[in-house]
Amino acid sequence: MTGPHLQWWLDAKFGMFIHWGAYSQLARGEWVMNRERWPIEEYEPLARAWRPDRHDPREWVAMAQDAGMKYLVCTSKHHDGFCLFGSELTDYNSVATMGRDLMAELADACHEAGLRFGFYYSLKDWHHPDYECGHRGDAAGHERFLEYTRGQVRELCSNYGKLDILWYDGGGLYDGEGWQAHEMNAMARELQPEIVINNRSRVPEDHDTPEQHVAVSAPGRPWETCMTMNGSWGWHAGDDRWKSTKDLIATLVGIASLGGNLLLNVGPRGDGGFPEESIIRLREIGGWLRLHGEAIYGTHRGPFEWGCFGMPTVKGGSVYLCIDKWVGQEMVVGMVKTPVRSASLLSTGEALEFEQRDDRLWIRGLPDRSYADPYATVVKLELDGEPEAYSRWL
Ligand code: GLC
Repeated sequence: MTGPHLQWWLDAKFGMFIHWGAYSQLARGEWVMNRERWPIEEYEPLARAWRPDRHDPREWVAMAQDAGMKYLVCTSKHHDGFCLFGSELTDYNSVATMGRDLMAELADACHEAGLRFGFYYSLKDWHHPDYECGHRGDAAGHERFLEYTRGQVRELCSNYGKLDILWYDGGGLYDGEGWQAHEMNAMARELQPEIVINNRSRVPEDHDTPEQHVAVSAPGRPWETCMTMNGSWGWHAGDDRWKSTKDLIATLVGIASLGGNLLLNVGPRGDGGFPEESIIRLREIGGWLRLHGEAIYGTHRGPFEWGCFGMPTVKGGSVYLCIDKWVGQEMVVGMVKTPVRSASLLSTGEALEFEQRDDRLWIRGLPDRSYADPYATVVKLELDGEPEAYSRWL
C-alpha cells in the first residue's frame, strides 16, 4: 500500500525498536516465559509486581534522536500478554498494576520532541485463555479473542494521540482471514488515517519486515529490516555478542543503498535504563550520522551496485560512495554512466580530483588512512542528470 502517507517513513530510513516488558526483570530475553515453561500462575505475580523505577521516557527519546533515529516503535504488549498501556479489556496492564500508563508516558515524550511514534502489538498471547481457541476449533472462543485483539488495537489507535506506526507481531497461529486482519486494519486507518502498518497481521499492508537480515522486496514494495545490537530483543544480561558500531553503520548504509529502512533494537533493563553497550553504540552512530546523514536520509534505491570500497547510496542527482573498506588514496568505481560534475568529501566539503573514462571513474586525493573516520568515509558525487549505470557484467 504505497502512498503519500508513507513518504516520511521512506525518507526516515532509521528508527529505534524497543523491547521492554515485565520479562525484562528476568534478564533472559522476551521469550523467557515460554522457553522456561513458566506457568501463568508463576509469571503473572511477577508481571504484576513490576515497578520500573528508572524509566525516563524523555531520556529514551533523546537517545533515539541523538542517534539520528527518526521514529520509535515500542512493545505495548509482547507475547507474555502483559499490557504496558491502560486497557479496559483486561486488568493485566500497567495502569491497573502500578498506576502508570507506560505507553502514554512514552507517546507524550515522543510527541513533545517531535519524534514519530509507533506501537508494536503482539497478536500472540500466552496469557489470554482464548488465544488458542481458533486453533482448537472453538469458534465462539476465537471470536472472543478477536474482539479482545480488535478492542486493544482500537484503544491503542484512540488513546495516545497521533500514532504513526502499528507494528504487529506474532500472528503465526492464524492467517489474515483468521485474524480478520483487513477489518482490523481498516479500523486502525479510520482512527489514524496516516498510519503505517507492517505486514505481520498476515496481510501485506504497507511494508515487509525481514528480521535479523537484509532482504530486498519486489520493486516498489517498501521494506524494513529489524535487527538487534547483540543477539536478543528483550534485555538479556548474559548476551554479550554485541555487534560493533562499524558493523551497525555498514548495515545501515547497505540497507539505505538497497532502498530499505533499519529498525534497530534496544532492550532496556527491567528498571527502564538502557544497557551501557547500547548507549555507546547509539552515541557513536549518532556522531557518524551528524557528519554523513545526508548520505542516508531521503535516499532511495539507485542503479549502482556495491563496489570494492563498500556501498553507494543515491538521492536525486547525488551519489554517496560510503567507503568502509579502505582502497587507498585513489579509488576506482565502475559503472557510472551519467557525467560526473563534481566529487567531494561529504564531511568537509573538500573537492576531490576525478577522471571519468567510459565505464570507469577514478577519484584521487582521498585522505590517507589515518584521517579516515573509523566507520565510513563518504565521497559525494554530483551527477549531470539522473543517475544511470552501464549494464552490469554478469
Ligand atoms: C522475533 C522474536 C520476537 C520479537 C520479534 C521482533 O520474532 O521471537 O520476540 O518480538 O522477533 O521482530
